[in-house]
Amino acid sequence: MTRGDITTAADPTRLLEEAFREAIVAVLGDDYRHVDPIIRCSQNPAFGDYQANSAMSLAKHAGLKPRALAQQIAEAVAKNLRGVAETPEVAGPGFINIRLKAEALGKMLEALDTPQLGVHRDPNPHTIAIDLCGVNIAKQMHVGHLRSTIIGDCLARTFERIGRTVHRENHLGDWGLTIAMVLWSLTRSGDDLDTLGLEDLDKAYRHAQAECRQDEAAAAEAKATLIKLQQGDTETRRTWHKIIDVTMRAVYESFDLLNVKLGPNDNRPESFYRDRLKDVVEAFRVSGIAQEDQGALIVRFPDRDRPLILQKSDGGYLYATTDLAAVRRRVQELKASRVIYIVDARQRDHFRDVFDAARRIGWDRLDDGSRAELVHVPFGSVLGTDRKPLKTRSGENLPLRLLLTEAIQRATAEVRRRAENPSAPTHGLDDEALDAIGKAVGIGAVKYADLSSDLVRDYLFDLDRMVSFDGNTGPYLQYAHARVCSIFARAGVTPTDPAIKSAKLVITEPAERSLGLLLLRYPSVVAEVAATLEPHRLCTYLYDLANAYNTFYESCPVLKADRQQLRLSRLRLCNLLSRVLADGLDLLGIQTPGRM
Ligand code: ARG
Repeated sequence: MTRGDITTAADPTRLLEEAFREAIVAVLGDDYRHVDPIIRCSQNPAFGDYQANSAMSLAKHAGLKPRALAQQIAEAVAKNLRGVAETPEVAGPGFINIRLKAEALGKMLEALDTPQLGVHRDPNPHTIAIDLCGVNIAKQMHVGHLRSTIIGDCLARTFERIGRTVHRENHLGDWGLTIAMVLWSLTRSGDDLDTLGLEDLDKAYRHAQAECRQDEAAAAEAKATLIKLQQGDTETRRTWHKIIDVTMRAVYESFDLLNVKLGPNDNRPESFYRDRLKDVVEAFRVSGIAQEDQGALIVRFPDRDRPLILQKSDGGYLYATTDLAAVRRRVQELKASRVIYIVDARQRDHFRDVFDAARRIGWDRLDDGSRAELVHVPFGSVLGTDRKPLKTRSGENLPLRLLLTEAIQRATAEVRRRAENPSAPTHGLDDEALDAIGKAVGIGAVKYADLSSDLVRDYLFDLDRMVSFDGNTGPYLQYAHARVCSIFARAGVTPTDPAIKSAKLVITEPAERSLGLLLLRYPSVVAEVAATLEPHRLCTYLYDLANAYNTFYESCPVLKADRQQLRLSRLRLCNLLSRVLADGLDLLGIQTPGRM
């Protein structure tokens, strides 16, 4: 991008940064080439579109008066920005306000109007690995796994959108004593394994757990089953495969309902690592990082009391041992420069230990010697409206399916109710079509509620609020998108009409300007989500965008615009907006029905 080349600069912040950096060098000299000009979007349109806020700290550093320095920078930058912005103005203690010229804003929006929507490809060639879902075999998928799946899917989509290769790693809990207990319980009960459902497995699991806790003989038998499983005993393996099939069938149904990009190819269960555990332990032993402690092999950390246990005194491996094997594979075999674990906040200590141990032994090193980033993205619990963790009446974790079907039912009822109105765009659609919309809205509601607040905070599962078409909700955003689509339906034109696609974008009204400025931020918001791993930033942005659109829609006639050129320009702006909304919602994993 060359200076002032506004046709390639969809994101004005970058252009302004460059222009200001040069102005700062012109005023203060080359030593200041690397300062951050601190370009921010203005909160109040009265102060222009952007602010450059670095003059105050620069003045302090250079021993100058802030306003006087700001004035000098403003004059220098004015030359760089001719054609793009009005003459910058100094305000307050030394802020520099910038207002884009309407013509330039229009051109920048035209530059944004490409299939990529201005989203930059990340030049980093390394892969990203995302550890998500992680359901446990023989148990129902519960809300914790729901969160991990939704958040992980959103981050995976975001990284793919910026051009990174993503491995979705479903670290299923299918190995170890817990599974052995279920196997033992099932073999003993003599139930017909071919007619088993997930509920039966869940029950077997709970029985076995209670029994092994009370009865030593039972615990010993479960352990013997584990050894049989580990040694590959045919019958035990056969049953094991069966319970995996039963569980996964239900899990895939949930994936399908959730519309997440996750399937059998992403399964990298704990059992996948079983033949690597011995090596893990050996590597730690040989390197001297692990030490014997009462027959067990442990890694100690100077800053914490609890050690990480690699191998128990009876020779058994642990959850952490498997996770170390997984880190090693993800960095060294998959070549991931970032390994992101979307797991409940309660496992924070576990990941801290695993990551530190992996770093000590050097398993976070990529081929080029750089270190991969190992990150745990912790999330909070899901609470019922009584602010207690969501449970069934009998105190069990609420099965996921129940929750999703209820969200879909509520949303479908609302969609149907609205369709009764003769002027609704959905009026007259058949049941199948309405149900499909209801499903998209119900799932969209759950996902948006999950993603739109700070992930570590517990969140309230309040279906009434979540499925509402008003407020900061998924359905509200889906509805805003559908409304834009309906403009085209009413006008009887398609957005791909050459007259619209090539229309010059003219920005006249303040509401049009606000909307345009917000649209230009889209690429940097996507980059921000990838950098911070905080999907709520995208949610807030899309919500602001939908609100800006509503204001625009109220004050700027589109189909009734008084000039044909303005009508085409506004139709093009509407189309651009609908695509940004749809693209952003797609990153959140939320579908956008054309009618609602
Ligand atoms: N199965 C685990 C659980 O339900 C989650 C797995 C998380 N991923 C990992 N690599 N440990 O708690």
